[in-house]
Amino acid sequence: MPATRLVSPDDAAALAALLTDNREFLAPTEPYRADSYYSVAGQDELIEDLLAKHVTGTSLPHVILDDHGVLVGRITLNEIVRGPFQSCSVGYWVAEGATRRGLGTAALARMTEIAFGELQLHRMQAGTLTDNAASQKVLERNGFQRFGLAPAYLKIAGRWQDHVLWQLLTPRDDAAVDV
Ligand SMILES: CC(C)(COP(=O)(O)OP(=O)(O)OC[C@H]1O[C@@H](n2cnc3c(N)ncnc32)[C@H](O)[C@@H]1OP(=O)(O)O)[C@@H](O)C(=O)NCCC(=O)NCCS
Repeated sequence: MPATRLVSPDDAAALAALLTDNREFLAPTEPYRADSYYSVAGQDELIEDLLAKHVTGTSLPHVILDDHGVLVGRITLNEIVRGPFQSCSVGYWVAEGATRRGLGTAALARMTEIAFGELQLHRMQAGTLTDNAASQKVLERNGFQRFGLAPAYLKIAGRWQDHVLWQLLTPRDDAAVDV
């Protein structure tokens, strides 16, 4: 079964290699990245930062594994906000060679289970480029609904680009709110 798990400092080399191999594939959907992002040291630093945010409860950074346990991508719950919002934002990518096998869909399904189970959140949000059909399919398959179009929302591939906004609400009707 494809799975996700918490990122570890030991993943830095594998992530740097995967990101280097997929630089061109990911570039149209990512912000501009400095060359250091593709190095082991850059990934070391990023993982350290993500795990520090995880400790404070504002991030849940996972890696995506294929059927053989090989690391093929990343999925992160970002900007976990408590109080009356109880929301997070999700971002993900899968290496080009591992796409179209259902791994993105399965990874998001697992993160929704964690978000609404263990984390007791009320809502998840995602934003896609208007023409990112693959990502939109992954979201739709997990029950996410479009709720808006945000003009010039994020600077992706060097340009402020419009994004479709998506959300999924908890299936629980007794959403915990520790305001
Ligand atoms: C989006 C992404 C994570 C999908 O990962 P994945 O593991 O291929 O996802 P799945 O296999 O679960 O589903 C993807 C679906 O989109 C389809 N798809 C892939 N590329 C497509 C394209 N260019 N146009 C239309 N559909 C496309 C696939 O065929 C698949 O549908 P199917 O199962 O009916 O054939 C991956 O393509 C990716 O990392 N893209 C670049 C980064 C990115 O866009 N991240 C999300 C930013 S919001």
